[in-house]
Amino acid sequence: MPATASTNPAPPTPPAPGTRSADLVARRQKVVCSGVGMLSPLTAARAKGAVITDVDGREFIDFASGIGVMGVGHSDPAVVEAVRKQVGELQHACIHVATYEPYVALCEKLVGLFPHHEDAGDGTKAMLISTGAEAVENAIKIARQATGRAGVICYTGAFHGRTLLAGSLTSKTRLKEGCGPYAPEIYRLPFPKAMPGESIDEAALVKRELTRLERAFDDTVSASQVAAIIIEVVQGEGGFNVAPKAYLQGLRNICDRHGIVLIFDEVQSGFCRTGTWAGYEYSGVKPDLSPWAKAMGGGLPIACVIGKASVMDRVNPGTLGGTYGGNPVACAAALAAIKRMEELDLNAKAKHIGETIRTRFTDLQKKVTQVTDVRGMGAMMAIELCEVVGEGGDPTKPAPAIVKAVIDDCRSKGLLIIAAGVAGNCIRVLTPLVITDEQLNRGLDILCTSIEQHANA
Ligand SMILES: Cc1ncc(COP(=O)(O)O)c(C=O)c1O
Repeated sequence: MPATASTNPAPPTPPAPGTRSADLVARRQKVVCSGVGMLSPLTAARAKGAVITDVDGREFIDFASGIGVMGVGHSDPAVVEAVRKQVGELQHACIHVATYEPYVALCEKLVGLFPHHEDAGDGTKAMLISTGAEAVENAIKIARQATGRAGVICYTGAFHGRTLLAGSLTSKTRLKEGCGPYAPEIYRLPFPKAMPGESIDEAALVKRELTRLERAFDDTVSASQVAAIIIEVVQGEGGFNVAPKAYLQGLRNICDRHGIVLIFDEVQSGFCRTGTWAGYEYSGVKPDLSPWAKAMGGGLPIACVIGKASVMDRVNPGTLGGTYGGNPVACAAALAAIKRMEELDLNAKAKHIGETIRTRFTDLQKKVTQVTDVRGMGAMMAIELCEVVGEGGDPTKPAPAIVKAVIDDCRSKGLLIIAAGVAGNCIRVLTPLVITDEQLNRGLDILCTSIEQHANA
């Protein structure tokens, strides 16, 4: 086999020897292949609200939420009860074999929460699957069958999953090395944000990037061959870049003019994370299709595609689905989780969490030169770190080593937090939305102190 140049990041610091965590991680390493990435040596035995307890009984404030999943908090009693009840009634039937109520009830709830139509003439429909990548794949299949076209436009910094088609749309090259060939008919444009170090006002940026898209129809792929444009309105793995409102409005306009299906990937930003049910609400623009997953299941694997009925129903019967899609227990968990989001008003809570984090991060930015950006929306906030360089050096050189040191340090002080960004130089906060103010502030104290210490080291 040919050797490949490894660009893998440094492995996580191992847990303290002689502990149960060390034993468990050692057992993992013997039988779980290395391709299943290990972001941290943390182990998890149980969790409640915003606190995870490891197999040695140590508690960690959770600023990761299992990558944005546990919005309603770990082990929410209503979600747990709904799962217990459903598992005793019907564990599995397969929606293609028999229609069961939790699947239908969840789709009814989803189309009510996320109407994709502007006028009453076009209803909204949904389908259920199990993961975010599947949701993205299905959205693309729907767009292709609905338009009879193949091309898909996506963006730099995008993350849409790891399956072959979703992976083809994903931007981070390190996650893709050696796995090709990737799916054809994928065209990538720069995400609408300023270049590192560039100073440009938003209106000029939007104009430039919309013009770039229009030109791409002449020099890259004809608009008549494009089935869909897929964009994360707030990029997740890409480092919480927020697409300008005017850019999304421009996209809507361009898609309408050319008969292109507009897809907003809400897998990470949806279900209250940004302070609204859908991340796209700030733009005033609705997509034709949208994939969702993560927080919607309250911890169980469930995902969906929601879309305009006029697009969703142009797909040949049998094209979509799978054995487990919309499993009844996962549907019951999702219905209970959504009810909790409503009861606890997690949109308001996400805004409050986001404001608290933004204030702390912008204060830190004033003190620490390496903090080059604070960005995000609602409770989806990130802080970006770059190196301090001498005269003539690149002031936008990412600092992933500082980020790694901070994350390791935070973990040693009882805070679980993860990185983001194509260069791994952002720290992202994705707390459960039920986190208390005391836990949030304690976590931010640990994080901000650590950034200050490591940046100035
Ligand atoms: C925006 C976005 N889309 C798709 C995915 C893929 O979801 P999954 O990991 O459930 O396949 C992710 C996962 O992080 C995501 O953030």
